[in-house]
Amino acid sequence: MKITWQGHSCFILEAGGKSVIIDPFLKGNPTAKIKPSDVKVDAILVTHGHADHLGDAVEISKHTGAPVIGTFELVNHCIDKGAAGHAMHIGGSFRFPFGRVKLTIAHHGSSTDSSSLGNPCGFIINMGGKTLYHAGDTGLFSDMALIGETNVIDVAMLPIGDNFTMGIEDAVLAVGFLKPKVVIPMHYNTFDVIKQDPEVFRKSLPRKDVQVEIMKPGQTLEV
Ligand code: NI
Ligand code: MN
Repeated sequence: MKITWQGHSCFILEAGGKSVIIDPFLKGNPTAKIKPSDVKVDAILVTHGHADHLGDAVEISKHTGAPVIGTFELVNHCIDKGAAGHAMHIGGSFRFPFGRVKLTIAHHGSSTDSSSLGNPCGFIINMGGKTLYHAGDTGLFSDMALIGETNVIDVAMLPIGDNFTMGIEDAVLAVGFLKPKVVIPMHYNTFDVIKQDPEVFRKSLPRKDVQVEIMKPGQTLEV
């Protein structure tokens, strides 16, 4: 599997000739290396309605035909705007042609403009023989231990930016709960208010058997 980071919480996963984008915040993302029109994917996974996550999901869906996948309220909002969609909800999983997706809880908001789009979520994705956990925007929660017990997580993508989400201290506790083989910090340094040094995250991890991948925007990691 190839994992490409576009900065913030936006990742493109590619495996077995299929690809998906998560939280496609490209226009307005100072760290993104591509435009929405460059994106060719089979699905668009969106954790919540905030503009730095929903991003260009509708535009990408319109030009690719790829469904937006997320919570019922968020997906129906996207369908109203002309996107294709597959609505799910927390605790539910579905097997798509590219792989399986399960929605997890996330402690955060999920509004767009003035309307609320229900709950935010995280994703457990089984694709290309790998299990990935993208936490979305969330504070730390102890059920991450349950996610770690019930899944062998190859790659965890965790926010470390603080202010809106977990900061470094809580992300270190999250790694202890999830026990991933690889952890990629996200949702930091996009804006001044979430400025963090990811090397502090790396150095703070007590488990040295976890591989910390501090990616550069536009960089691709093979796992
Ligand atoms: Ni958010
Ligand atoms: Mn955010």
